[in-house]
Amino acid sequence: MARTGSPEDNFRDQERLAIMKFLMVYGTTEGQTQKIARFVADRLQRQGHEVQLVNAVEVAPEVDPSDFDVVIAAASVHAGRYQSAIIHFVKDHLAALGTRPNSFLSVSLAAAGHDKDDVEGLEKCVADFIHETGWTPNTIHHVAGAFRYTSYDFLKRWAMKYIAYRKGGPTDTSRDYELTDWDDLTRFVDSFLEDSASARPRSV
Ligand SMILES: Cc1cc2nc3c(=O)[nH]c(=O)nc-3n(C[C@H](O)[C@H](O)[C@H](O)COP(=O)(O)O)c2cc1C
Repeated sequence: MARTGSPEDNFRDQERLAIMKFLMVYGTTEGQTQKIARFVADRLQRQGHEVQLVNAVEVAPEVDPSDFDVVIAAASVHAGRYQSAIIHFVKDHLAALGTRPNSFLSVSLAAAGHDKDDVEGLEKCVADFIHETGWTPNTIHHVAGAFRYTSYDFLKRWAMKYIAYRKGGPTDTSRDYELTDWDDLTRFVDSFLEDSASARPRSV
């Protein structure tokens, strides 16, 4: 960050650069959201922040969002729903989530395109999630996921190939296709970091 020289500006820069503790909790079925969550955690750590990265299905009881400055949750869409582990986690910690900067990363294949029906479908997924959990995240960011053909069973592979065929997506099931836009995710993380730093209560 560029310094302007005046003591007031430098003091403000110091405050903004203060180390924050992030909780990055995620739900994943085939692993792409885990990869995305690791990427986010890595980006935050490189900027000097502390990050605890936890899979919602393995989260230890002592992991309490109240112990963190900022919470980011991530989950992927499967047949219109997010992983139940993330839904349970959010419901269990609703009060703490509401009192600190927070964000929800929604991972899906619909996010990779601009199909009107897909966009409406995603909006419904998010609305159902908010209704079910009672959590309205400060920000919701949609992230394109992946076709992980090589990790699907026969039925899933067949179904996903059919969906890809109908949508003009990749249909060679001998390999995986990552549609995640890492540059877009980087921009989101940096901007969310700025917002979280500004929203943080200031000590006088
Ligand atoms: C069985 C199955 C159902 C899916 N259903 C949807 C869906 O309803 N909408 C969507 O946009 N993407 C859907 N996807 C795509 C996933 O959201 C995408 O592959 C994502 O990268 C999965 O993340 P994960 O590897 O962390 O589980 C589905 C994928 C699978 C395998």
